Amino acid sequence: MNSKYSLPNSKNNITKFSMKMKPTPIIFGNKNGPPSPKKMKMNSNENMNSSNYNGNFSPRPKLSIQDQRRKLPVFDKRNKLLELIKRHKTLIILGETGSGKTTQIPQYIHSARLQENGKIAVTQPRRVAAISIALRVAQEFGQGMQIGDVVGYSVRFEDVTSTKTKIKFLTDGMLLREAMFDKLLMEYTVVILDEAHERTIHTDVLFGIVKRAQKIREDKNLAPLKILIMSATMDVDHFSKYFNNCQAVYLEGRTYPVNVYHTIKPHDDYQTSCVATFFKIHKEAPANHDVLIFLTGQEEIEACAHQIRLLAKDPDVHGPAVKVCTLYAAQPSSQQLNVFHPAPPNTRKVVISTNIAETSVTISGIKYVIDSGMVKVRSFHPSTGLELLKTQKISQEQAWQRMGRAGRESEGYCYRIYTRSQFELMRKVSIPEIQRANLCTVALQLLSLGIQAMQFDFMDKPPRDATMAAFEQLTLLGAVETITSTTLTPLGKKMAKFPLDPRFSKILLSAHDFGCLEEALTVVSLLSGESILINPTSKREQAQNVRQKFCSAYGDHITLLNIFREFTNVGQTNKRNWCHEHFINMRNILHARDIRNQLEEICKKCDLTLKSCGSQMDQLRKCLVTGLFMNTAELLRDRLYTTLDKKQAVQIHPSSSLHGQQPALILFTEVVQTSKCYLRGITTIEAEWLNEIAPEYLKSHNIRLNKSS
Ligand code: CDP
Ligand code: MG
Repeated sequence: MNSKYSLPNSKNNITKFSMKMKPTPIIFGNKNGPPSPKKMKMNSNENMNSSNYNGNFSPRPKLSIQDQRRKLPVFDKRNKLLELIKRHKTLIILGETGSGKTTQIPQYIHSARLQENGKIAVTQPRRVAAISIALRVAQEFGQGMQIGDVVGYSVRFEDVTSTKTKIKFLTDGMLLREAMFDKLLMEYTVVILDEAHERTIHTDVLFGIVKRAQKIREDKNLAPLKILIMSATMDVDHFSKYFNNCQAVYLEGRTYPVNVYHTIKPHDDYQTSCVATFFKIHKEAPANHDVLIFLTGQEEIEACAHQIRLLAKDPDVHGPAVKVCTLYAAQPSSQQLNVFHPAPPNTRKVVISTNIAETSVTISGIKYVIDSGMVKVRSFHPSTGLELLKTQKISQEQAWQRMGRAGRESEGYCYRIYTRSQFELMRKVSIPEIQRANLCTVALQLLSLGIQAMQFDFMDKPPRDATMAAFEQLTLLGAVETITSTTLTPLGKKMAKFPLDPRFSKILLSAHDFGCLEEALTVVSLLSGESILINPTSKREQAQNVRQKFCSAYGDHITLLNIFREFTNVGQTNKRNWCHEHFINMRNILHARDIRNQLEEICKKCDLTLKSCGSQMDQLRKCLVTGLFMNTAELLRDRLYTTLDKKQAVQIHPSSSLHGQQPALILFTEVVQTSKCYLRGITTIEAEWLNEIAPEYLKSHNIRLNKSS
């Protein structure tokens, strides 16, 4: 690509540039100086100052790991913190991202033996954070220390802990599962709920669970449970009030001023604008100034990475070599960890990330942040009955966090791909997931703990219609008798044993009757891990052609099954080549195989027999209906579908193997909203199966199927 950039006009602090691939130039206006630091509301906090911290560690640290630890803002506060932790049974700890909360505080507690005979649990909303932080802490513990010894981690389908483990990093979802087997979490004496401001649905439920466990343990004179709530930013009053007016402490970190620029005009194509802005920076900034770009998801991030790699090689583009790293949830862990490695000399690192890099992980060397202002969120709409993956504007709080990533080690720059007035219009804080998610899984988990979600002590209650919708789903799936039930049916109890969405556990539990448990296990495992298909932007067609032979006329689930079956048949030594040839992500397919083994174990415990339906795909398709009958749509006309219950207009996603075809009736596993509502993960089904398998559903929603279906 031949691209030219006009030199930015740095006079008047207005930056102008253009780029052939993007006709509209992006113009940034500089705000007068950096924004005033966000003031956090405090209770009776003990404000710690950081006068002893020189904050002067190099962007590419050459210090020993122990020296790096000593340089962290939290280091000087060690004794004071330990004293507070000892004194209070619940404590809120606030501190800037990168101040050492997550990596250091569990180690301090451990070395002071405050956890006594129990373990320390540290939760993280994301897998990548749980794993990368556990690895880092194990490394800090000293030479010869293996991950899984004293320091371990546990994320869904991957447990790297042992009997020796004292500090356990886990995703909030995993701790919640542990609570289902032991409500009082007796294994732990300290539970640290980290990144509390993210307010994931699991963290919100855990707030209630740990609060309850702490109280019961106290009443019953059992080993006390200490609760620490940590975050970089939060509404302290709200949290403190919920935790019985607990104490909060503010670790003042060291941050440097960040110059913030907004665009002068709105830019709809934020992705291209991010690339253009990167090259503007690239042309001028010294090579060791790294750049962090916030985008929304895998496809966008990969496309942006591809563009930057291409353009960086263009002889017309001036600047040092570029190392492009990407960071998103659906990425193999090893690739994710790559972002933490410094770039080689004379090379600029650019990290393109989702909101993971907002607060969960700290990447050193970042001097510039480019903020698209967008984020992808999953939200459930009781009115349409759909749970959507939707790209939307971030909150102002997120914008400040993103900006802060540029000022951790020295003065930084933040380019916002939105105008000042667009910023002013953003929500102040994000809506907690509990108030926008499908509550079906949570309601089932709570019921298995003997708690009715309506009665649960939530910090912020979920909307009533979402809770009702969840109980309605559970009733239709057969997990409870009625929507007011306070106990699970025997089927519901079995469903709760699986670390899965209840709809998928239902599929496994019915597979036994359809004689297709082998196949159902494979399909559910493939849907539970990250995508096994690689679709590189530059070779998309080639990838589709070579995988054409696996495509089933029944749709995506059976296509995935065909791929997995073939992968299993390929000899051990040829697997890598086979994956490469067929654009299959080897790591993800192996991970799916591990997931399958674990789910198979649970099936055996539920006395389910492993049977294969061979090529009788109707059995498998019917079995999918038993869990996914609520995710169904029928053809209306000309590629336009409508969901059966709420009559929402939808279309088949271009990535589906059924794209371009028009089956009369389909079930789906995912909905993505861009300009339209698209369905992903589709299987064709027959109308009579719905009558046979889900008559109550059809009746309660007054569904009459089109004659054509
Ligand atoms: O939790 P908080 O944001 O306060 O900081 P942290 O995650 O404990 O990180 C403290 C420091 O450890 C960071 O500034 C990084 O330099 C370093 N770190 C690292 O090098 N590798 C990791 N995987 C995690 C942290
Ligand atoms: Mg942290």
